[in-house]
Amino acid sequence: MKTPLLAPSLLSADFLHLDSALKRIEQGGASFVHIDVMDGRFVPQISYGQPVVSALRPHTELPFDVHLMIEQPENHIDSFIRAGADYLTFHWENTVHHHRIIGRIHDAGKKAGIAVVPSTPIAVLEEILPYLDLVLVMTVNPGFGGQAFIPGCARKITELRRIKAERGYGFLISADGGINGQTLAAVLDAGTDVVVSGSAFFSGTLGWEL
Ligand code: DX5
Ligand code: ZN
Repeated sequence: MKTPLLAPSLLSADFLHLDSALKRIEQGGASFVHIDVMDGRFVPQISYGQPVVSALRPHTELPFDVHLMIEQPENHIDSFIRAGADYLTFHWENTVHHHRIIGRIHDAGKKAGIAVVPSTPIAVLEEILPYLDLVLVMTVNPGFGGQAFIPGCARKITELRRIKAERGYGFLISADGGINGQTLAAVLDAGTDVVVSGSAFFSGTLGWEL
């Protein structure tokens, strides 16, 4: 897989016109559609869930990168897979049974990711890294689009890059939050494989010309 890859987030799309948002994502050179699922508990807002994912599924062949910002993610893995998720990324902070959830995702033939909020160190992932297809480094506190990038988070991407190279792991490193024309270079220089972008992508200010 040639990286870096672009994963525009639907959270910043015009929800009245999700079909045209998908077209824009396809025409914008994207490799994934990033779908932010929020439960109003782990994060303040409630966004959208399985019915929206299944409604979108027939309208694009791009893989769905579903970012589950929800408590008890184990209760919703199977239904998001049925709805059409390809990558299922849950938060490290929302479970203690990481291996079990990853196993369920892999048994269904899908890709498993873990996300970490800015205050969670990469060190907690030590035991689980060999099993992961994707690690999502949040570069803002999850919950809203359009927030300011937290510069210190780029160090976590560098650390993951080093561990990945040293041990030959296969996971993709994804960066999510506050990535725009000013901050894109920092996450790319740090070694990001997947760039998630919501507000900058849809406002045309990301500057993705790779
Ligand atoms: C934040 C979400 C992000 C968000 C990114 O909680 O996980 O994926 O949509 O939006 P921007 O790029 O506007 O920060
Ligand atoms: Zn996200």
